[in-house]
Formats: sequence, structure tokens, C-alpha cells
Amino acid sequence: MTWNRRNFLAFTGLGALATGVLANLKGCAEEPAANQVVVQQTTDNDDWAEVRNQFVLDQDYIHLAGLLITSHPTPVREAIDQYRQELDDNPAVYLEENNTRLEAETRQAAADYLGVQSNEVALTDSTTMGIALAIAGMQIRSDQEMLTARYDYYSTHESLRYKANRTGATMRKIPLYETIHQVSEDEIVDTSIGEVRSQTRLVTATWVHSSTGLKVPVRRIADRLEQINGAREESDRVLLLVDGVHGLGVEDATMNDLNCDFFMAGTHKWMFAPRGTGILWGNPRSQAAVSPTIPTFTRGAGWGGRMTPGGFKPFEHLWAMAEAFRFHQQIGRSRVSDRIHSLSRQLKEGLAQMPHITLYTPMEENLSAGIVCFDVDGFGPRQVVDRLRQQNIVASDTPYSPSHVRLTPGVYNTPEEMDRALSAIRDLG
Ligand SMILES: Cc1ncc(COP(=O)(O)O)c(C=O)c1O
Repeated sequence: MTWNRRNFLAFTGLGALATGVLANLKGCAEEPAANQVVVQQTTDNDDWAEVRNQFVLDQDYIHLAGLLITSHPTPVREAIDQYRQELDDNPAVYLEENNTRLEAETRQAAADYLGVQSNEVALTDSTTMGIALAIAGMQIRSDQEMLTARYDYYSTHESLRYKANRTGATMRKIPLYETIHQVSEDEIVDTSIGEVRSQTRLVTATWVHSSTGLKVPVRRIADRLEQINGAREESDRVLLLVDGVHGLGVEDATMNDLNCDFFMAGTHKWMFAPRGTGILWGNPRSQAAVSPTIPTFTRGAGWGGRMTPGGFKPFEHLWAMAEAFRFHQQIGRSRVSDRIHSLSRQLKEGLAQMPHITLYTPMEENLSAGIVCFDVDGFGPRQVVDRLRQQNIVASDTPYSPSHVRLTPGVYNTPEEMDRALSAIRDLG
């Protein structure tokens, strides 16, 4: 069986209706392939209903915690099943005959989505693994330091701590803003850059904070660092490492748009790829600064190949990643982004009108993405999550101190679902 399908609709056998619906998504840049059947004009709602139909999510629930772990759309689910079947039928032979090709195809699909060359992309198991690989393998001297935002994720802080213990380099945690209620891009950029010293080798950033939903202006920080680096020796350049997990699959941006040095993300959240998958991208200008920690298995091309950790893998998951990237491409990155921003805005605007709510996520589109965080007067975050769960609304509470309630709409949600969630929260007042 050949697995180099370009079109998840052809693959899923959804047929003319679905093919037409998705090919017709308004503003979708891609031309329908020759074998696609384009049906009559559809409404925007029909289009999103068709996207929703790709997921087997329990219809009795409103799913607003997709940032934790994803449900897979049809093409990803079917690819996992098919590859598993092939491996179960003839494991050694199927692997021997297909692994090199399928891994290369997966890296190519990821690279196409990221807007980079496939030899720049490593396939990992998670954001955590990508962060750890980049930091563990980074060249740093004992007289240099690593800057991290106070709000970066535990995996970043711990990887930096391990690195500091091994190398003698120091680690410094910095705040990015005075108060989330008045934060601005300028404040974040000026604060980060103001903390860079001659001995600073690494700056970490989290594209979208899972503690508040704040989106960090990565490009602006990267550009300021590039200016600073212009006057530095290669071994003193400040490297910008971005935990992009809550931006990838949400924001309409390529690696070129971000201009960072290293970017890592789990793809088992907003990207809808199989569980236990992720990517690590290294900007060609900085790849020499990071070398592998875990031996690779397939010796794929370039830095990305060497950085792809080996060992026998859940190959059916790794290979099926490609379908997730294609799924997003099929809908169109800007449409995905607009939809998620629109649903988030609806939530934030509704919450901002409720006197018993404190909203933490900025209203501005340039400072937020698909994560909405808030508190409810008189309730702890976990209590709110429990109360919503009683009404089959799946929220999460943030694993930070202080903790907040968190809602994260995805492309499978509807404006009506946002209204129902808002109504349930209003009733807590
Ligand atoms: C900002 C951030 N980074 C990393 C992670 C961990 O992601 P992974 O499970 O892919 O390691 C999370 C968890 O959701 C997170 O919120």
C-alpha cells in the first residue's frame, strides 16, 4: 500500500461532498486537485461542521481542553490503524522496506507546514523532549548564562537547571511584565532585551503561555537579538529557543516569520498528530551550536536527521504525523487561526462582561491565541472545572501558581458551544 497521499479526503474516502466542502473552504489558497470533485457553494458553518465531522469527539461534551491532548481527525486515525496493521502483519519486513521513506515523508510534511527544509526538522516525542534535546546539546561555557521567563513551562526550567548543573553555566529567571492586565508587546520585548548581558548565551521563550494565554512577540525579540548578535563572536551569540506548542496549529506563522534559532512543539495537541509526537526545528544559522544527545535510528538527512532520537519507535504514530500536517494545510493555516481566534474572542468578550470574573488573557489578538484564562469569584479553579464538568463542559485548571481556569477552543468547536460555556459560567455568579 502506498502512503504518500496528498489529500486526506481522497484517503478517507469521504467522497465528493466532503471533498467539495473542504476544497471550497472560503479563502482556502489551495486549488482542488484534478481528481477532486467540487460541489456547490457551501456556507462557512457547513465547512466547519465538516471539519468537526472528522473527529469522533463525544458529542455530549463541549471539548475545551484540547491544549492538553488531542483527538485525531479521520485521516490521522486511519493512517495509524493502517500502519499498525502493516506492522502487525509483517513487522521486520514492513519496517525494513518502508521506514526510511516514511520518516522522510513525515519530515517533509512537517517542513512544508513550517515553511523550512526537511533536513532542518527533527522528529521528537514531545515538546519536553525537543526542549531537553536542544538545551542538553547546546554549546555553552561555564562563564555564560541562560535567561528564562518566570512563566516558561516546567520542562524548560528543569532542562536549564540540569544544564546548569552539568556545565557550570548559570540560569536566571526574569519577569516579562508588571501586570498581565496592562501588558504590551513593547513591555515584553524591552524587558527581555534589557536583561541580556554580555555573558547571555541563551534566551528561552514560550510562544503562548499556558498559565495566562499571553502570546509573546517572538519575532520582535528575535529581531532585537539579531542586532545584538551582529557584534558578537559565534560562540557568544545569543540563541533564542522557543517552546511553540500552543502556537503551532493555532497561529498563521512560519519559522521564517518567527526568526528564532530553535523551535520545538509537541504535535499531539493543537496539530492533531498522534500521541507521543513532536518536532524540533533548528535554524541553519544556529544548528552548529546544538549537537545530538540521543543516537538516531535512521540516519536521516542533515541536522534534523541527526537530532531525531532513535530507538525503535511507535512507528505507526511517527509516520501518521504527516497526515496531521496535511490536514491543517488542507483547511488552510490562516482559516484555522481565524477560527480559533474568533472563538477565543467570543469567550473573552463574554467573560469580560461578567462582574464575578477576572480575565487574565489579553483581549488583543497580537497578545493572545487560543488559550483563555480566568478566575471566578468565590470558587477555586478546580471547583469551577468540576462544576463545568457536571454540565459536560470540559475545561482545565492551569498547573501554575497561581492557578486559573482555562478554556481552549479548537477548530472542532462552534460559536454555539462558546455561548453554552459562557452561560454555565454566568450561572456561577
Ligand atoms: C507551555 C508548555 N510547554 C510544554 C508542555 C508539554 O508538552 P509535551 O507534552 O508535548 O511535552 C506544555 C503542556 O501542555 C505546556 O503548556
